[in-house]
Amino acid sequence: VRPGELLERGAELAGLAGVLDDAAARRGGLAVVEGSPGIGKSRLLAWVRAQARERGMRVGFARGAELEREFPFGLVRQLLDPAVVELGGADRERLFAGAAALAEPLFARGAGAPRLPAADATYGTLQGLYWLVEELAAERPLVLVLDDLQWADEASLSAIGFLARRREGLPLAIVAGTRPAAAEGRAQLAELLAEPDAAVLRPASLTGGAVAHWLEAETGTVPDATFAEACRSVTGGNPLLLKELVHELRAEGLAPSAEGASRVRQLTPQGIATVVLLRLARLPADGTPLARAVAVLGDLAEVRDAAALARLDPARARELAAALVASDVLEDAEPLRYVHPIIRATVLDAMPAAERAALHAEAAARLRERGAGADHVAAHVVAAGRLDEPWAAGVLREAAAGALGLGDAMAAAGWLRAALAAPLADPERGDVLEQLGRAEALAGDPAAAGHLAEAVALAASPERATERAVLLGTAHKMAGRGEEAILALTDALAGAPEGLAQRLEAEIVGAGFLDRAAARAAREHVGRLRAPDGEPADDQERLALAVLAWDAAVKPGGDADATAELASRALGMPQLAAQPIPGGQGLIVAGMALVVADRTAEADRLFSDVLDHARRTGAGAAAGGALGMRSWARLRAGRIAAAEADALDALDLGAQIHARAVLGNPPLAVATYAAAERGRPWEELAALHAHPGAEAAREVMSYGLVLHARGRLHASEGRTEDALADFEACSRDEPWWGRDLPSLLPWRSDAALALAALGDAARACELADEEVALAHAFGAPRAVGIALRAAALVREGAERVRRLEEAERVLRDGDARLEWARTLTDLGAEQRRQGARTAARRPLAAALDVAVRAGADRLADRARQELRASGARPRRDVGSGVGALTPAERRVADRAAEGLGNREIAQLLWLSEKTVETHMSSVLRKLGLRSRAEVAQMLETAA
Ligand SMILES: Nc1ncnc2c1ncn2[C@@H]1O[C@H](COP(=O)(O)OP(=O)(O)O)[C@@H](O)[C@H]1O
Ligand SMILES: [Mg+2]
Repeated sequence: VRPGELLERGAELAGLAGVLDDAAARRGGLAVVEGSPGIGKSRLLAWVRAQARERGMRVGFARGAELEREFPFGLVRQLLDPAVVELGGADRERLFAGAAALAEPLFARGAGAPRLPAADATYGTLQGLYWLVEELAAERPLVLVLDDLQWADEASLSAIGFLARRREGLPLAIVAGTRPAAAEGRAQLAELLAEPDAAVLRPASLTGGAVAHWLEAETGTVPDATFAEACRSVTGGNPLLLKELVHELRAEGLAPSAEGASRVRQLTPQGIATVVLLRLARLPADGTPLARAVAVLGDLAEVRDAAALARLDPARARELAAALVASDVLEDAEPLRYVHPIIRATVLDAMPAAERAALHAEAAARLRERGAGADHVAAHVVAAGRLDEPWAAGVLREAAAGALGLGDAMAAAGWLRAALAAPLADPERGDVLEQLGRAEALAGDPAAAGHLAEAVALAASPERATERAVLLGTAHKMAGRGEEAILALTDALAGAPEGLAQRLEAEIVGAGFLDRAAARAAREHVGRLRAPDGEPADDQERLALAVLAWDAAVKPGGDADATAELASRALGMPQLAAQPIPGGQGLIVAGMALVVADRTAEADRLFSDVLDHARRTGAGAAAGGALGMRSWARLRAGRIAAAEADALDALDLGAQIHARAVLGNPPLAVATYAAAERGRPWEELAALHAHPGAEAAREVMSYGLVLHARGRLHASEGRTEDALADFEACSRDEPWWGRDLPSLLPWRSDAALALAALGDAARACELADEEVALAHAFGAPRAVGIALRAAALVREGAERVRRLEEAERVLRDGDARLEWARTLTDLGAEQRRQGARTAARRPLAAALDVAVRAGADRLADRARQELRASGARPRRDVGSGVGALTPAERRVADRAAEGLGNREIAQLLWLSEKTVETHMSSVLRKLGLRSRAEVAQMLETAA
């Protein structure tokens, strides 16, 4: 038996070795060691680090610390910085080339302030970190070891979770240690433990046998059984407690005998605190102030700082530090740190609170004087409680600005809340409130609105007040509160300077698109928006045009050409794609207007440009909005697979940036429409519909699309009554977006078909005819064709054929390929029923071709059946393989068809390159193709 031997951890070591094997085999391993303090987590993680080095792997290590919980990405920087430095120099550029560049500010050197972040940097930073890690792991397997994860800053926890979810196929192992996650109340920690295939190791207390072993190793004699049992029961078999106990027994010279057992039992009423404090008491009297100073300073205590706080001269402090090392209180290292957080906590707890606060205040002042980082100083300012120093608020604001720059809005908000507690003059208070509101809005914290409203009231100039009101409006809007956004913006109108009033008006009208109550409140403002006659001169005019374009579509008596004209003008400026309109849905709104006006290809290009820009800058909300809208444009152009891929991306992203309610309806609708076309059952979609923001999403005006899509899916599976209920819900007394705009929501024609199937022909005809009239009035061909087809199908005989032919003519030359194919199928079917079997074949064959290529399996099946019934023998499908692709394979294939390489696809879809390779090879196999170029061809024709 050797002292310090690792006891009873065979299973844990095997589990950890397995995770290293995963890294070596590019399987991406994840292990979490969970347990109470002192149970032996750090010890196991130390083994992992040593083992990984022995295997030639690259190791990153970081340890959470209580005082550093507010340091944005603190843990991740600790983890990766050494590797980044090691690769330094010219390689640094290679390291941060491509998508990893988004994470570069985290590792910035020197004085340079972090670069100006995108509006919502976290999304970009996480993406960048993923690519950095991938790059680091490319050369040799990377093992990331994180200890005391319960003290990780939020941003780092997000990053670790993000990596863990994407580890599949990477030569990467993530190994973390944490106190029991359930007791920490941190959702992201619990999620990490619940990650599928994570090895969760929970080291057990030592058994009586192991305790006896340990005692024998320490004392050199076999302990008496009652003594060993006493030691086990007072420590509960916790290795740290056992170690502390043994320490004390040694100091007291106690023999491991039956008599010793009663002393052991006496020692324990206050548990570990007793033995630790007894140990400190044996040191010279000035040892305690030093121990306290180190405890206050936290994990990175410089000797000179600790000496100053303890009122000792540095030489004496060093002597005492050595004594604390000898008695196993401090680690043998500089800066000074405790051997275990529990021991540090014991010392802190034994201090009077006032003394602790005073020492933190002193630490803040000292660290500030010698130029320590703002967040280090700020951490002590916060720990000191209210601090009346004139510089305190400034330090906190600086720390907050740094946090925002790195994309950690939550940490920034924490610092700013502390700054509000400092004495502030009104103008500065207003600035702090604005900064706080901005940070909270980014973090999705509902307190944002209250703080921004206060900031508006404290604004020193009308310009500032207007700017803050726009921020306040945006915060309300992103939280799905349209009416409140409008209230705030209208309030600001009263005092707004001449030049900014139009900006507010445009924001008000834009907010009116959000929900029905907001639409009412915004109504009277539409008339006040002045559109420029020609091209917009600035962002403000462009926003006005965009908003008016959408309004021209959805207002009663709207007109497709007028809509398209306004939208195209809003998009007229050349630099536009690189500059989405700040604070608003500007460009995206103009794109939506193009979609309903049937300018689908133009809209698709616009959304792609916005998306590119948003991805490069890490602007999550813009990326989410553009993806969702592009999915809708693609679906309308009959590109089902492409639409579905965008929709799923948009939903992922929406969830990540807490904007599922505001951004999620269109992509959810698209995923549902696509399922209906592909013949997938409702069960596959139900989970997507039951998301946490579902309730709030129902209040957003785009929800009409979800209702309509769900109705389509119900109808496709023969649940006609459910379908009818959904279609009719689209006509609630307050208009959804486009209740009377069939180009947006052709609910009447679908309801008509359902009613006809249920036997109410009269009502069916009425609704279908109403839609034909509405569609003609607006003038977008796709909607006209859809309405005409329904009006045909609710009738019989020659009348049916005549109207179907009319619908077919309207749809023939547009890009609504699926609608055209649907109409052709109906036409062929009707002709066949009337006995014109040969004539029926041509439309049916054309329909089959389009449907197969689009991946519209349900329609293809129907066309095929009809063809057979007409006596034709449909040839084997060219594109049958396309339908066999899984959604993940479709996402990859579609990007490949756009000409992207595996690496680019991986960056775009946040998959590993390896995963993309795997998908690509099954795509090739399923499609029976040999090269990517052929995939492009096949999907292109399919689209
Ligand atoms: N299985 C074990 N056998 C022997 N000693 C152990 C064992 N596990 C932990 N120790 C010792 O107990 C002390 C506390 O362990 P540590 O890993 O720091 O706990 P944790 O990180 O869980 O708080 C350390 O001194 C460590 O060496
Ligand atoms: Mg530990």
